[in-house]
Amino acid sequence: MTKYCENGVMVALNGPIFLHQLRRWIPWANFRRYWFWISLISALSMFGIVCVLRNREYIPPRRPPFPLPPPPLECPNIPHRGQDGADVTSSWDDTNRSQAASLKFDAKVLFFSKTRKNLVAEWLVENKFRYREISFDSKTLPVLTDSSRGKYLLIVFEDFEQYLKLDKWNRQLLDKYCKDYDVGVIGFLPGSFTNSVPTEELLEGLPLMGHTGVLPKSVSVDPSPIPRILKGGLLLPVNASRLPPFTTFRSHSGYRNVLTSRDPDQAPGEALVLEDEGEWDGVRRVLFGMGLEFWPHRILFLDALHYLSRGKVSTPMYRYIQVDIDDVFLGRAGNRLLKEEYQALLESQHRISDHLIPGFKYTLGYCGGSFHHGTPEENEAEDFLLQHSQEFLWFPHTWRHRMISQYPDLTNLTLDMLLNRQFAQEHNLPILPNYSVTPRHSGIYPVSDMLWRAWNVTWNISVTSAEQYPHVRPYRLRRGFEHQGIKVLPRRVCGLYSMFRYQEDYPGGLAALDSSAHEGFFFMTLISNPPTCIIFIVVPPTVNQISVVMTHAPNYGFDRLAQYLLENTFREIKCLTNLELKVATPVEMAEEYFRLNPEEKEAVWGNPCFDRRHLELWPEELSCAHFPQLVILGPQKTGSTALSLFLSLHPDLLENKHSPNTFEEIQFFSNDQLYLKGIDWYMSFWPNVTLQAGASPRAYPANATRIPFEKSATYFDSEKSPRRVRQLLPKADLIVILIPPAQRAYAWYQHMRAHKDITALRYSFYDVISSSTGPKALRKLHTRVLLPGHYLTHLERWLHFYSPQQIHIVDGIALRKNPVEVLNKLQREIPAVFRTPIDYNQRIAFDPAKGFFCPLQVKGGIVQPTTQCLGSSKGRNYPPMDQRSSDYLESYYGQMNAELERFLRKWGYEVPDWLAKEDPRSISESGNAEAR
Ligand code: A3P
Repeated sequence: MTKYCENGVMVALNGPIFLHQLRRWIPWANFRRYWFWISLISALSMFGIVCVLRNREYIPPRRPPFPLPPPPLECPNIPHRGQDGADVTSSWDDTNRSQAASLKFDAKVLFFSKTRKNLVAEWLVENKFRYREISFDSKTLPVLTDSSRGKYLLIVFEDFEQYLKLDKWNRQLLDKYCKDYDVGVIGFLPGSFTNSVPTEELLEGLPLMGHTGVLPKSVSVDPSPIPRILKGGLLLPVNASRLPPFTTFRSHSGYRNVLTSRDPDQAPGEALVLEDEGEWDGVRRVLFGMGLEFWPHRILFLDALHYLSRGKVSTPMYRYIQVDIDDVFLGRAGNRLLKEEYQALLESQHRISDHLIPGFKYTLGYCGGSFHHGTPEENEAEDFLLQHSQEFLWFPHTWRHRMISQYPDLTNLTLDMLLNRQFAQEHNLPILPNYSVTPRHSGIYPVSDMLWRAWNVTWNISVTSAEQYPHVRPYRLRRGFEHQGIKVLPRRVCGLYSMFRYQEDYPGGLAALDSSAHEGFFFMTLISNPPTCIIFIVVPPTVNQISVVMTHAPNYGFDRLAQYLLENTFREIKCLTNLELKVATPVEMAEEYFRLNPEEKEAVWGNPCFDRRHLELWPEELSCAHFPQLVILGPQKTGSTALSLFLSLHPDLLENKHSPNTFEEIQFFSNDQLYLKGIDWYMSFWPNVTLQAGASPRAYPANATRIPFEKSATYFDSEKSPRRVRQLLPKADLIVILIPPAQRAYAWYQHMRAHKDITALRYSFYDVISSSTGPKALRKLHTRVLLPGHYLTHLERWLHFYSPQQIHIVDGIALRKNPVEVLNKLQREIPAVFRTPIDYNQRIAFDPAKGFFCPLQVKGGIVQPTTQCLGSSKGRNYPPMDQRSSDYLESYYGQMNAELERFLRKWGYEVPDWLAKEDPRSISESGNAEAR
């Protein structure tokens, strides 16, 4: 049988008839000769079919599922046993503790690490504690006090042996600090990996016997004030096969067991975690007989931090939970949920809200445009879901699950959102106010203005969540941010992806899923996410997915992996910890999140070209070639405009379009309002970037025909700029121009007078530089005149984010007197930017009337002998600085300049001539009329 499509293209043929007909047309000998071509054509056809299937999301058929059973929801009756076997309850009271100490410290942990990648640091980050990590190889302690204030609230040793082996002097110093400031120490003593035979030794300087190489079978949480999150009185089995051996401690008076080995074969009652009450030497300690590989240690570590810091390094005792189920009504026919699966979802919700999280409801993100696109059975199931719609919470996803970057314009996007809203109205869905999430979080980050505007007019969205800010991985570094009034919460994953339908789909199978719920990945995610946790669970496949693996079926139907994982984990939290799992609206959660993490509010834009996931979500028309690769940082009044003008003469470089509002400069990184406009706005300053033939628009640094560069002299001394520039332009080269800071200060003062600044007109230069008190306007001018000249402070900040090879220092005096030499040096230093060096002698010349070097005019592509200089605001005429001011500034900047010189030499920079032979009198040159 032969089939033809409507357009006449043959798509399938009955094999034997086809061959028979072929042999009639082609004689046998020729047939063999054509064999190669036939094979090739068949292979290509197969390839084509595979591609079509992939694009149309081939989904393997359903097979009978084995739905996983719900867990028993009550906790087993845990014996509350103390060391003596008596029933105990923890007498811990947070409020008493946090009031006990006077708080003289910054809430900081000093962490001595032994290994570069270690669990302790990861856990501190995961829980968002502020800490300073010091690698313990230098053997010298960092400075612990700061003008009689203790700098650290707690000290943590990744390997406590390093503390025990400290030389006498350092140990005394550290102990004294701990005693004077009542600072506690937490130490981990890993059991010996090599030593399988248990050995016993005395802990140096402490009245304690340590017992290494122990593998207990079970442990108990003892009556101690330390367990706070971990429930007191628990008896926990130890899966020793997956753990290195422990060190246990034989207790002594003044010490108290926190976690005790309960092992009939070995000496019972030895502690795995021990509290040193400080009786012996006045230092309070908590010692762990192994690292954080052992899950109770992770929780007890949080508890010990809270205890020793008297509640200052702590997490709240509740966690908010919201489980988003994205993509409801989506998925190819045959792959959607059935009625009994929606029924099961409802039952799961009842179980969770009745036993584990009061008031809990699943949050369904729907795509109205895909409703009723399944099999009749599935459509019926969707009707069933709508009949029970009031029992769930809903939020708008998108109409047909289109990524925001695929919408041509705001109108189309808004129309789709309105359709989705109409769907909600027609079906009377109880919509969660002000909350939405887009497919794959596109448009949320990297930010699309179009999305934020559409959300504003259609749904009045004020909270959303995303998983890729600043990056998807590592999970623990995900952060929230606020932009244009919309708060973005970080989303956490529970480890279930859309392709996981059956138990065996989960990597490691049911055993791994169990382990995630029972003290593993997902359990710890909930522990470490104070106070909000939005869990992201994908249900059916996304429409535009190309990858076969990503197109498999829901994890709420089939074996119901999601319900299983969630219910088991919530139950474990309830049974093993004192944490309260709660619900709140997204708006309430967002408010609480940013109240607790105010530093996260302000986003720092990253460069999508360095993150594959960001690139996928970035509109296709945007290209990495629009990011500058060279930035002149300033500071102001050092000749930055002249340098920028000279660079723009170079055929390899493309200057930014001038910004009318900020004196031609973009000032994106230094101005908070402009920074909020986002990276699309920034990139729009180079509209004419073109790529070299064959260059990829998504590669970075991109091969543009002319490389974009910018100059904003406000960047150099702005506190926020270095981090912001680094995040967006990590591979850029930066230029800093230095002139004597006193000259710079005077030029700025004259600049303000020329701009009729009332304060500058009212006060003399000497008044401005010498008075740090007085009216606000005067103080402000004083700072703006002097602060940018603190060159070393600003340079150090930049060098924190960039390597010295990327920061090029230009002598501003040399630039003024001999720009060609300066430009040639730059051409040599940055060959990646100046690809074809030019002879600047042919492009600039000294203009005697202006008293400065100026570009030569170009007419009809031919360089003229006449110059075209910068306007009258650059290279002004003003009288020289008075002697009193010059003397004042000499002493003001003298020390700073000496340190700057040393610093530049240390980092291998060429020291500007004016700095190398700094003569106090040289600064009185700074009147321009005389300088010429
Ligand atoms: P004055 O106007 O006080 O003389 P900036 O552009 O960074 O604000 O710096 C302005 C200063 O650049 C001017 O300060 C001037 O001294 C200096 N300059 C250096 N080379 C110049 C040039 N070729 N043309 C004009 N000004 C130049």
